[in-house]
Amino acid sequence: MSETSPSGRLTSEEISALTRQTNYGTWRFQKSWKPLHIADAEGCWFIDGAGKRYLDLSSQLMCVNLGHKNRRVVEAIAEQARELAYVTPGFATSARARLSAKLLEVLPEGLDKFFFATSGTEANEAAFKIARMVTGKTKIVSRYRSYHGSTMGAIAATGDPRRWAMEPGGKGGGVVFAPETNCYDCPIKHTYPACDIACADYIEHMIRNESDVAAVIVEPVVGTNGVLVPPPEYLPRLREICDRQGVLLIADEVMAGWGRTGRWFSVDHWNVKPDILVTAKGITSAYVPLGLCATTSKIADYFEDHYFAHGHTYEAHPLTLGPAVATIEEMQRLRLVERAAELEPYVREKLEALQAKHVSVGDVRGLGLFFAVEIVKNRGSKQLFNTMRDKVEGKPLVVDQIAAKMMAQGVAIQCWVSHFVIAPPLIVTKEELDLGIAALDEHLGIADEMVEG
Ligand SMILES: Cc1ncc(COP(=O)(O)O)c(C=O)c1O
Repeated sequence: MSETSPSGRLTSEEISALTRQTNYGTWRFQKSWKPLHIADAEGCWFIDGAGKRYLDLSSQLMCVNLGHKNRRVVEAIAEQARELAYVTPGFATSARARLSAKLLEVLPEGLDKFFFATSGTEANEAAFKIARMVTGKTKIVSRYRSYHGSTMGAIAATGDPRRWAMEPGGKGGGVVFAPETNCYDCPIKHTYPACDIACADYIEHMIRNESDVAAVIVEPVVGTNGVLVPPPEYLPRLREICDRQGVLLIADEVMAGWGRTGRWFSVDHWNVKPDILVTAKGITSAYVPLGLCATTSKIADYFEDHYFAHGHTYEAHPLTLGPAVATIEEMQRLRLVERAAELEPYVREKLEALQAKHVSVGDVRGLGLFFAVEIVKNRGSKQLFNTMRDKVEGKPLVVDQIAAKMMAQGVAIQCWVSHFVIAPPLIVTKEELDLGIAALDEHLGIADEMVEG
C-alpha cells in the first residue's frame, strides 16, 4: 500500500491506487482498470484530481439528469439527514408521503402504489416477484437487447452478454427471450412498415406456446443496448397483446424515464399504461440511490388479502426520498422535460450531419436528449467493428479507442460494443452540445479509416 502525502491527505495517485488495489472494478477485466480520481463536479462538467475538466456527455451512466451539484437537491439531502435519517419501512415519514404525492403528479395515470428500493436492479426484482405473486404464474418474457440489472433475477431477465457469465444457471427462474425491436438491424430481417410489427406479434405467439407467463418486460426505449426507439405501433400493440393474453406489462424506465426522452416517461410518447413501471437513476438525478416499482391499484388490491412477501431494511429510506422530492421539483421549476424535447431537433440535426460526413456512421437514432450513434464496418451489410463477445472477452473495441481520445480531450462519453450514447444532463447548453459533438466528429476518423471497401 502506498504512503500518504506529508500533509496527511491522499494524493490523486494514492486514491486511484488504493481503490484499484482494494476494490473490484465492475463489468470488466481487472488488470486494465486504472480508476481516474474525480474530485469535483458542477453542472455538465466533472473535474479530476489534477483539476482537468470533462464535459459529461452521457450524464455519467445516463442518470445525472439535473446536472451535478444542483443546490436545492444538495440542500434537501442535508435537510433530510438533519430531520430523520432512518426508521424502519413499517413507519410513515413526511419524505415518504411527500414523494408519493409528487409521483402521482408525474407518473403515467393509474400507477398509484409504490415500493421504494435502492437501485433499478432491486426495483426490477420487486416487479418480478409482485408479477409472479399476483398472477400465480412464473415466466417472464424479456428481449435479447436489454439490461434489467445485475442480481440473480434481474440478470436472468437481461438479454445482453452481461448475463453470459452466469449461464446456464443464470437463465433460471423461467425467463424466455423474445426478439428485440430494432428497425435499423432487425434480428428477423424484416423492414418497417411492411413488417406490420411482426416482432410484437411474435411475443403473442410465444405467450400462447409457453403458457405460465406472468409478465412481459420491456425497456420502452432500449437504453444501453442501443437507444432503440420502437415504431409508433409497437407499444400499443404489445399492450393489446398483454391484455388479450392476461399477462402483465412491465415498463423498465430506469434509464429512459425522468425527462430523458422529452417526456416524463418514455411510455408517454405512445400513451401506453403499463401494469408495473420500474425506474431509478434520474428519480434523484443519482445523487442518492433510489429505485421505484410502481403498480396499478388493481395489482395492489390483491395484496389486501395476500401476504406481500418482499422488503428490504433500506426500503423507503428517508435519506433517498427527501432528495427525490427536490429533484422532481427542480425538474419542474427548470422545465427540463420540455427542454429535452426542445433540444431534440438540434441534436438530431448535428448527429445526422456526422452521419453524412463519416462513412463509419451507420445509424443515428434517439428521442429527446437520448441518442445513439452506431458505427459499422460496412454500411451496406451493417457489419459491426466488434461483437458482443469481443466486449465480454475484454478485447479492445473501436468505440473504446474513440472514447479514450475524446476523454483525453476533456469530453466523457459512454459507449457499448458499437455505439456511442449522447445523453447529457438536461440542463446542457447548445454550446456544450456543440463542443461534445465536435469531439466525436474529430475522432470518428479512426473508425472511417477501418471501413471496408
Ligand atoms: C434499463 C435498465 N434497467 C435496470 C438497470 C439497473 O439499474 P441499477 O444499475 O440502478 O441497478 C439499468 C442500469 O443501467 C438500466 O439501464
